[in-house]
Amino acid sequence: MNKMKTITEKVNVNDPETSTVEKAGKIIREGGLVAFPTETVYGLGADALQSEAAAKIYRAKGRPSDNPLIIHIAELQDLDHIIRNIPDVTYNLAAKFWPGPLTMIFQKADCVPNATTGGLDTVAVRMPAHNVALELIRQGGGYIAAPSANTSGRPSPTQASHVREDLDGRIDMILDGGTVGIGLESTIVDLSSKVPVILRPGAITKPMLETVLGEVILDKGLTDTDSKVKPKAPGMKYKHYAPKAQLIIIDGNTENVIKEIKRLAKNYQPEKIGIICTEETKNEYSYGLIKSIGSRMHEESIAKNLYAILREFDQTGVEVIYSEAFETPKMGQAIMNRLLKAAGHQRIQV
Ligand code: TXA
Ligand code: MG
Repeated sequence: MNKMKTITEKVNVNDPETSTVEKAGKIIREGGLVAFPTETVYGLGADALQSEAAAKIYRAKGRPSDNPLIIHIAELQDLDHIIRNIPDVTYNLAAKFWPGPLTMIFQKADCVPNATTGGLDTVAVRMPAHNVALELIRQGGGYIAAPSANTSGRPSPTQASHVREDLDGRIDMILDGGTVGIGLESTIVDLSSKVPVILRPGAITKPMLETVLGEVILDKGLTDTDSKVKPKAPGMKYKHYAPKAQLIIIDGNTENVIKEIKRLAKNYQPEKIGIICTEETKNEYSYGLIKSIGSRMHEESIAKNLYAILREFDQTGVEVIYSEAFETPKMGQAIMNRLLKAAGHQRIQV
C-alpha cells in the first residue's frame, strides 16, 4: 500500500471544533479514511454505503475480508434506510441504551454493500455516545462503517497515539479526542433469533439487556473450548488483542494467585517477566516488570487500562506476562473475554 500523509488534529470532546470535524466529514464523503474517538475505543471510519471506501478499511487494517463492519449512525430515524424488518424491541433497546456501547444485528437493506457486511445479509449498527463521533457521522453523510482503528490482531486503540502506532501513513486523518471512556468494544446483540444472543460482551451487560428483552443468552462459541463451536460474530474467531509476549492468566483466590505468580516469575530473569496486577495487590510483587491495571473497587478502571497496558508491554523486553484474573461483577465478563483472547486461552487455575 502506498504511504500517504496522515494528518492528526485535536478535537475538544465537549465542543468539537466545527472546522476540524467538517474537514474530516468531507474526507469521509469523498471516500477516505478517518480514525475517530468513540466512548468505547477509537474507530476507523469510512462511508458505509460506498463499496470502495469500505474496502479501503480492510486494506488499511490488514483485516480478513469476511469480518463485517459496524455501521455507526447519529439519528434513530436513519436506521430505516439501511435495514429491513426492524424488530419492535429495537426501539425499546435504543430508548434505553442509544447513544451508547450497544451494537444490534439486523437484516440489511440493499443499499448496504457487501464490502461493509463481509458478504453477510445482516448488518451491525450502533449509535456511539460521543460528541465527536456523532458530529463526524452527521458531517460524513450519516452512515460510517468503523471497526476498531488498530492493525488486525492488535489490541484496540484507546488513545490517538495507539492509532498512529498502527495506521500512520495508511489513513487520511486522525481526530484526537484524548483517551476514551470505556476502553472495551461495544456489546453486540443479535435479535434475529427467538431468544436474543450476545455475540460479544461489553459495557451493556446481560442483566442490563434482560431488563428490556427478558431472556438473553451468551453465544456458545464465546465460552465453548470445543473448536467446532464457532462464534457467531466472525471477528470473535480470530486471534486478537495479543501482546508480543506470551500472556498467561492465573485464576483463583487472591492469596493463591499472588503466590503462584511469584513462584512462576522466578523461573525467568526479572527483565523478561511482566506482571499485571491491581492497586490492591501491587505491593505484593517486587520481581519483574509490575503494572497495576486499576482497582478492583473501580472495575471501569480495569476495562479502561487493559489495551493500553498490553501495548505498553510491547515496548519492553518481557517475554512472558502473568496476569491476575478479573471476574468483576459488571464489566468482568467483557474484561475476561478480551483477556482470555489475548492470552490465547492460556489460563492456570490455582
Ligand atoms: O465499540 C465498538 O463496537 C467499536 C467502535 C469503533 O464502535 N467497533 C468495533 O468494531 O469493535 P470491530 O470491527 O473491531 O468489531 C466488530 C465485531 C466483529 O467481531 C464482527 O465480526 C462483528 O462485530 N460483526 C459485525 N457485523 C456483524 C454481523 N452482521 N453479524 C455478526 N457479527 C458481526
Ligand atoms: Mg476490532
